[in-house]
Amino acid sequence: MLRIALTKGRIEKSAVEIIKKCGYDMSDYDNKSRRLIVTTGNLELVLAKAADVITYIERGVCDIGVVGRDTILESGREFYELLDLGFGKCRFALAGIKGRNFYNGYTHKVVATKYPNVAKQYFMTKGIDAEIVKIEGSVELAPLLGLADAIVDIVETGTTLVENGLEVYEDIANISARCIVNIAAMKLKNQEISDLILKVKEQI
Ligand code: PRP
Repeated sequence: MLRIALTKGRIEKSAVEIIKKCGYDMSDYDNKSRRLIVTTGNLELVLAKAADVITYIERGVCDIGVVGRDTILESGREFYELLDLGFGKCRFALAGIKGRNFYNGYTHKVVATKYPNVAKQYFMTKGIDAEIVKIEGSVELAPLLGLADAIVDIVETGTTLVENGLEVYEDIANISARCIVNIAAMKLKNQEISDLILKVKEQI
């Protein structure tokens, strides 16, 4: 039995499509209602929030996880990343009010983000001492309200930025859904995991 943690929502939907294409009977999933664990053949699917998928994989209570690279980069935790699944594509970007130059002048810079570790790492590599303010959602509000000089956030279509008078200053990293594996499970269940990864690779 392999236990797979899927990030609830869009990633879950795309992952389930791939699992169906691999030939698994997904009737238990289709009738799951509000259940959070469903079984299909020799797979047990666990539906969880992105950051929790990483916790379950790192702690070894799930073998395989499907999660966005955004959450992986923010977590900085230990596991194997086996596969880029090619869906859930977007990017991390530095953005702010249109027409302003973030790097102008020597003033103290404030950056708002849902991803403080990603932002800290980014400014560290650039040698810039920016103050990072953690925001829980709709990060675009921070520069509009005068809280921050810029944001580090996910950009998918770019519509949210445009409709709020903001623009991308710099791209930081590409994001897509990844398949991650617990380090011990990779040894103990190597055959089962390799077989599944092979089937998934044929479908993506
Ligand atoms: C994400 C992200 C942006 C938006 C980008 O937010 O934080 O706000 O999507 O998408 P776009 O480039 O296609 O406009 P999400 O929808 O997850 O909501 P949140 O800001 O409340 O976290």
